[in-house]
Amino acid sequence: MKILVTGGAGFIGGNFVHYMLKKHPEYDILCVDKLTYAGNMETLAPVMDNTHFKFVKADIADRDAIFKIFEEEKPDIVVNFAAESHVDRSIEDPGIFLKTNILGTQVMMDACREYGITRYHQVSTDEVYGDLPLDRPDLFFTEETPIHTSSPYSASKASADLLVLAYHRTFGLPVTISRCSNNYGPYHFPEKLIPLMIANALNDKPLPVYGKGENIRDWLYVEDHCKAIDLIIHKGKIGEIYNIGGHNEMANIDIVRLICKELGKPESLITYVADRKGHDMRYAIDPTKIHNELGWLPETMFKDGIKKTIQWYLDNRQWWENIINGEYQDYYKKMYEGR
Ligand code: NAD
Ligand code: TYD
Repeated sequence: MKILVTGGAGFIGGNFVHYMLKKHPEYDILCVDKLTYAGNMETLAPVMDNTHFKFVKADIADRDAIFKIFEEEKPDIVVNFAAESHVDRSIEDPGIFLKTNILGTQVMMDACREYGITRYHQVSTDEVYGDLPLDRPDLFFTEETPIHTSSPYSASKASADLLVLAYHRTFGLPVTISRCSNNYGPYHFPEKLIPLMIANALNDKPLPVYGKGENIRDWLYVEDHCKAIDLIIHKGKIGEIYNIGGHNEMANIDIVRLICKELGKPESLITYVADRKGHDMRYAIDPTKIHNELGWLPETMFKDGIKKTIQWYLDNRQWWENIINGEYQDYYKKMYEGR
């Protein structure tokens, strides 16, 4: 069994590579990644010597490169994590989101059609459903919730999902799609809420909370997401969408306060800054379908997962300091200075 994992040098793809090599030591894992600002070979360093692992640097939107990889490697299953993934960057510059997230998905599926695979799995997001109001805690996203996107990022992910379903219906491509809520855990790039707050707090820098900090996200420990994808590619029904989420809703400000507490840092570091444009209020997943059909349930409680995550950032300071000392500084200045 050979699994082609795109975006494996990123946060969730990297965790998935580690998880799969441990869980299925007999599988071959081929990682294809363009190594954008978010891709990091240090994330893959622990597996580079594994004879069941191979890394190829390529852009999923580069048709010739991707077809050549399929020709040479003949993967059985493709799991497409590769994407531009940060909402704030999509507001600054949507173009690359359309290219990678939509056209890249098309190229990957065209290669699957040409060379044949047993499964194409698209890693999508709950953000395709838009947001829920704060005053309706009874509402959740199900797989039937209409697509209703807010940001160029979520619009690009929703477009890709529609294309995946079209390739299934029109060409019979054996696809599945998963739509997951916000992940947290090791190897999370420090532009995202949780690692950004941990890194800033450890450096005694201001903690920039957008708006009033009351927006709610449904947080899932990344390993639980990896387990769900492993189940879907082996047992999920072809043509189906599975929502993945942990019933773990938290307001941003509560997360930031918790990080301060865990690190023994003062809440006076918290700084309220201008809100994100079009900021989604609340995400909340109903994971009944994946639970009933595949028996998946999240295993890591937030109170444990956040402790493990903070400990990982303490133990792996070099990993994130290398990032924040590089081109990230220009990004940070552009997004936060004078905000
Ligand atoms: P990430 O930004 O950490 O990593 C993305 C990876 O994709 C990087 O290694 C990058 O180099 C690579 N990449 C980007 N463009 C590429 C291209 N054109 N060709 C090849 N590789 C390319 O992202 P992440 O947070 O790990 O997210 C992975 C996937 O999961 C994405 O599809 C995202 O939409 C989805 N998702 C993320 C979350 C979350 O909370 N982070 C939640 C739900 C779904
Ligand atoms: P983020 O990690 O970017 O994920 P997403 O927007 O995909 O949910 O942001 C999570 C929440 O945290 C979101 O409501 C925006 C907010 N946020 C801040 O308040 N400050 C920050 O510096 C960042 C990066 C995010």
